[in-house]
Amino acid sequence: MKKKTNIGCRPPLGRRVWLGVVLVGYWVLRPFVWLAGVVTGFFGVVEFYRKALGFRVRRSDIFIATYPRSGTTWMQMIMYQLTTGGEMDFMHISERVPFFERFREAALLPGTFRGKGRGKRRVFKTHLSYRMIPKGPCKYIYVVRDGRDAAVSYYFHYRNLIGFTGTFAEFFELYMKGDVQCGSWFKHVSEWKRNPSGLDVLYLTYDELKKDLPGVVRRIGEFCRLELSEEDFERVVERSGFEYMKRHEDKFEHITERLMEQGARFGEFLRQGKSGGWNTYFTKEQESRFDEEARKYTVK
Ligand code: A3P
Repeated sequence: MKKKTNIGCRPPLGRRVWLGVVLVGYWVLRPFVWLAGVVTGFFGVVEFYRKALGFRVRRSDIFIATYPRSGTTWMQMIMYQLTTGGEMDFMHISERVPFFERFREAALLPGTFRGKGRGKRRVFKTHLSYRMIPKGPCKYIYVVRDGRDAAVSYYFHYRNLIGFTGTFAEFFELYMKGDVQCGSWFKHVSEWKRNPSGLDVLYLTYDELKKDLPGVVRRIGEFCRLELSEEDFERVVERSGFEYMKRHEDKFEHITERLMEQGARFGEFLRQGKSGGWNTYFTKEQESRFDEEARKYTVK
């Protein structure tokens, strides 16, 4: 005799059909979903490079190009001081000397590129490789730091700001392979040094900035054809010194830059320090809702 199967445990036919349709649909659509991801990713990358390559360089532009941790921020400060009246009226230096790779947002910030006396001169910071840099008849300043110092500085940057938890030995392996942001130090530096397109580049080293800041400031002034009064010169040298920048560190910190890009406003923490200001903001309806809730909890 045939054994009876316990069909009571199986889901009803309709549900099984739906389940089948969903499973088959998933398997049929899976490659398309994957393809859509690849295509959007591809166009995202193309769009990024199109913007960088399609950027129209002005003859008066100045690019500060570096591999990360090579003295970029230092050069941003030198250039801001050189091309303007040199105030400290910014939240972060990238407000005035924007990070080119993110300049579209930075350029929208009020006050960016605000030159004084010497007209508007756009100065950008960039970590782009030589291949990717927009090329034109403008000026480029490439700062090189000893790759070993850059590696140590980058390691601490990774630890303090990117959440890297490995040892220096582990970071070193990544650095040597170029598996870090902005890729290989070796490639970055050698491509910029070869300069096959014959760009007008002033090559500087971090070490010569350390050894002879006044001399380097004069060279930059000549290279960018910036007339410098003695007063300007003194100010640039004083304000670009490590001690001065350290005293105003919040204006140069990576964290301030990221917060600024996200729209954070500074100097708003100790807002007004007054009572009764709520009156200006609450509507009548909000006021009575608040009162009602406060009565319930007998806190008013
Ligand atoms: P350390 O981490 O060795 O201290 P970047 O701006 O390209 O990220 O480079 C950061 C490095 O430049 C840091 O190196 C930082 O201390 C150094 N730097 C910034 N301003 C400087 C200044 N005025 N004088 C000397 N070094 C400076």
